[in-house]
Amino acid sequence: MRGLFVTGTDTGVGKTILAAAICAALAERGERVAAFKPVVTGLDDPPGDWPHDHELLASVANAGQSPNDVAPARFGPPVSPHHAAELAGTTLEPLDLARAARAAADGADALVCEGVGGLMVPLTTGYLVRDFALDLDLALVVAARPGLGTINHTLLTVEAARTAGLDVRAIVLTPWAREPSDLERSNRETIASLADLEVATLPHARPDALADVGRALPLEEWL
Ligand SMILES: Nc1ncnc2c1ncn2[C@@H]1O[C@H](COP(=O)(O)OP(=O)(O)OP(=O)(O)O)[C@@H](O)[C@H]1O
Ligand SMILES: [Mg+2]
Repeated sequence: MRGLFVTGTDTGVGKTILAAAICAALAERGERVAAFKPVVTGLDDPPGDWPHDHELLASVANAGQSPNDVAPARFGPPVSPHHAAELAGTTLEPLDLARAARAAADGADALVCEGVGGLMVPLTTGYLVRDFALDLDLALVVAARPGLGTINHTLLTVEAARTAGLDVRAIVLTPWAREPSDLERSNRETIASLADLEVATLPHARPDALADVGRALPLEEWL
């Protein structure tokens, strides 16, 4: 499967915006791109400035998916997937999730899969998001905050990925200000050096102009 797995250093760090920008940029280049997110939680929370993850991803992917095709498992409470499933009286089935991801990718030129929270989030008590990325055999792109605390969170994520044998293609600091602070520029250089990785940046995006920010990402290198 050609594609990327977009993970992050935490929940709420910009994974969906990054994944959607990648989808929009690939679609703009004439690629048929499918999006996937194994589990969406927190649907009880009203959407803010941005639509729910599966809705935003479905709006920029161009392989004919509905939002429910993008995310086969959906829960209301804003809790970890394994717990959301438990509250709903069910258990997520890793094989079914992987099968749904492959079905989404079928006929597409690329699959962009967003994780859930960070790499060590349980989908079931014995199966982490990291295991799912391994099962899909996709390389990672890591969304991370630009500011204070990001060096630690990013290096922990890279180490957890590499320990498991995952291939990290790049870090993306998001949202990246037009005039980044000294701290932010220093964080970018420090992460690049200590992780031995490319650290790209994603400018502030609008939901209706995601290709504008995705276009500058070096997607050919990552794919
Ligand atoms: N490039 C960006 N442009 C605009 N806003 C951004 C950007 N990057 C991050 N944000 C901010 O971060 C918030 C969270 O982004 P996003 O929903 O993509 O995070 P996430 O990691 O997918 O969260 P979740 O764990 O819930 O899936 C956005 O609502 C927005 O406020
Ligand atoms: Mg998200």
